Amino acid sequence: MKAIILAGGSGTRLYPVTIATNKHFLPIYNKPMIYYPLSLVMLMGIKDILFIVNPEDLKDFKKLFKDGSHLGMNIQYKIQEKPNGLAEGLILAEDFIGNDNILYMLGDNVFFGHDLIKIMQSAREDIEKNGGAYVFGYSVKDPERFGVVEFDENGNVVSLEEKPEKPKSNYAVVGMYFYDNEAVRIAKNVKPSDRGELEITSVNEEYLRKGKLKVKLLGRGFAWFDAGTHDSFLEAGEFVATIENKTGLMIGCIEEIAYKNGWITKEQLLELAKPLRKTEYGKYLIEVAKGESNAI
Ligand code: TTP
Repeated sequence: MKAIILAGGSGTRLYPVTIATNKHFLPIYNKPMIYYPLSLVMLMGIKDILFIVNPEDLKDFKKLFKDGSHLGMNIQYKIQEKPNGLAEGLILAEDFIGNDNILYMLGDNVFFGHDLIKIMQSAREDIEKNGGAYVFGYSVKDPERFGVVEFDENGNVVSLEEKPEKPKSNYAVVGMYFYDNEAVRIAKNVKPSDRGELEITSVNEEYLRKGKLKVKLLGRGFAWFDAGTHDSFLEAGEFVATIENKTGLMIGCIEEIAYKNGWITKEQLLELAKPLRKTEYGKYLIEVAKGESNAI
């Protein structure tokens, strides 16, 4: 399985903050927003990642992640000329995807929860064995802001709607999708919506029509933030700060994950910590390298 992280878009809901800066570089507490989805991909053991980025941001993304080899990974970039919608990333990633299955993540989504990786792994296994698509629902107070999933008492998806005026459930579809290889072909047939975007909901609807869409609900034990508005951005940062300061363990620390995955050596980790040594982040990496963090 390969992973694609969408990190383009216009970020208008965070204006004026994002007039001059891409939102994915903004700090969710002590690290860039984009570290959070990237860390989940890494925790899944996936080393091949494509970032979809705006033309003007490519240089900065390369500055941050280079080719990924310092993390033992293969990181590539693909430019999206205009924010034409979430489904366009699948089309742009066609060559990168090849014959693989896909983990498709939104760059501004932050997740936290016990057993999240186990849940993601079981979705991955299902897709690798049976094909189709897997989405995740999360109960929210304001479903009309999101793609909304309606399901029956057996958990079968009945409908999907993008930003409905009258939502049929409180369950938002979160920014993490598993697809089989068909997704590229499906995305190519999607027509732009009324707001002129190739909607990811249209891709999911096609899987639903074919009886190939599964949904898993993320219950109360999970936190999910679409950090693309001022309030949810702040909430995500406060949440991360609270958990990290209570536990002494970091969320979304990509160097730690690379080390624990066995993708980089202790010496490499210490090298990565060097320029960060004046920060708590850098000190944490040094503790991890010394084996003084018992993070699991
Ligand atoms: P959105 O938050 O839906 O859109 P946006 O980032 O353009 O922001 P706004 O609505 O405030 O103008 O995008 C979700 C994620 O997908 C986000 O991480 C940016 C990314 N994205 C792309 O990479 N390409 C796109 O065409 C769009 C629309 C979003």
